[in-house]
Amino acid sequence: MPFLVLWHFLLICNLEQDSMPFRKRSPDVVVNCAALSVPRACEADPAAAMSINVPSTLLEWLSTFKEANTLLIHLSTDQVYEGVKSFYKEEDETIPVNVYGNSKVAAEQFISMNWSNFAILRSSIIFGPQTISPVPKSLPIQWIDSVLSRGDKAEFFHDEFRCPVYVKDVVTIIQALTSRWISDGERMQLLLNVGGPDRVSRAQMAETVAHIRGYSTSLITLVSASSVDRGVRSPADISMDITRVVQTLRISPTPFKEGVRLTLEAEGSA
Ligand SMILES: NC(=O)c1ccc[n+]([C@@H]2O[C@H](COP(=O)([O-])OP(=O)(O)OC[C@H]3O[C@@H](n4cnc5c(N)ncnc54)[C@H](OP(=O)(O)O)[C@@H]3O)[C@@H](O)[C@H]2O)c1
Ligand SMILES: *[C@@H]1O[C@H](CO)[C@@H](O)[C@H](O)[C@H]1NC(C)=O
Repeated sequence: MPFLVLWHFLLICNLEQDSMPFRKRSPDVVVNCAALSVPRACEADPAAAMSINVPSTLLEWLSTFKEANTLLIHLSTDQVYEGVKSFYKEEDETIPVNVYGNSKVAAEQFISMNWSNFAILRSSIIFGPQTISPVPKSLPIQWIDSVLSRGDKAEFFHDEFRCPVYVKDVVTIIQALTSRWISDGERMQLLLNVGGPDRVSRAQMAETVAHIRGYSTSLITLVSASSVDRGVRSPADISMDITRVVQTLRISPTPFKEGVRLTLEAEGSA
């Protein structure tokens, strides 16, 4: 679903007074997940990346409501950072190294300049169980599990670092922002790093899967990310400092190992 619209109590409150309730009141919350999210696809078609990833049409539509009060929760990415140090903070300069990152920075700027009630979530790799209606894209932990379960050797980068975030923590963050807006009614302008508490390389992600599943770690061959041409530049270390989201919303993000255990448990045996 490209985005989620929550009309909180709208029908009940407005139907009695107005035969066209949807014209009167703006949605309380919109969670914008729509994107051209595959970096290689963005690199191949920068114009499409820009027009899909910058939510200008969405904000145009939200502006048509009389009381344009909607809280926009927008999914951004850790790829806004250059990737040359560890544990980026929100106030660090954004220097994307690819078209995907550039389009997401443009989106952040567009929202901050053109909307007054928003939370921008700079998400790292999201992992977790498959959804009830399976998503078409391959999921990161399930993909590693399927490769290693065949008993084949596979190559993993030892020098590309991320702070993968468990999907239910992303949901908790979105719920917390929503309840805050619904209960306080105070507009927000929030920029939050949304990562897990652990900085891990791709190889460490694979090792974690191997440990939990009981596969031999000798299947994991360490290679440098610089040895592979993926048709798009990929930032090396975009691990994030998540102090702000933890303190602002008082959440405790799931440790990587625990999240992987929960993910694999939900998948059953491969
Ligand atoms: N998944 C991750 O690990 C991750 C990490 C960091 C940031 N993010 C960000 O989180 C958000 C969601 O990611 P995702 O992994 O769920 O992405 P995804 O699987 O690529 O889904 C993107 C969604 O956008 C919709 N969409 C694409 N083009 C559209 C258009 N022109 N108009 C309306 N809808 C359109 C797609 O709808 P159809 O399927 O109908 O085409 C799809 O539902 C994105 O903003 C992404 O950049 C994701
Ligand atoms: C704000 O919106 C206007 C009109 O759509 C656009 O021209 C402008 O570039 C936007 N600002 C930013 C910083 O993106």
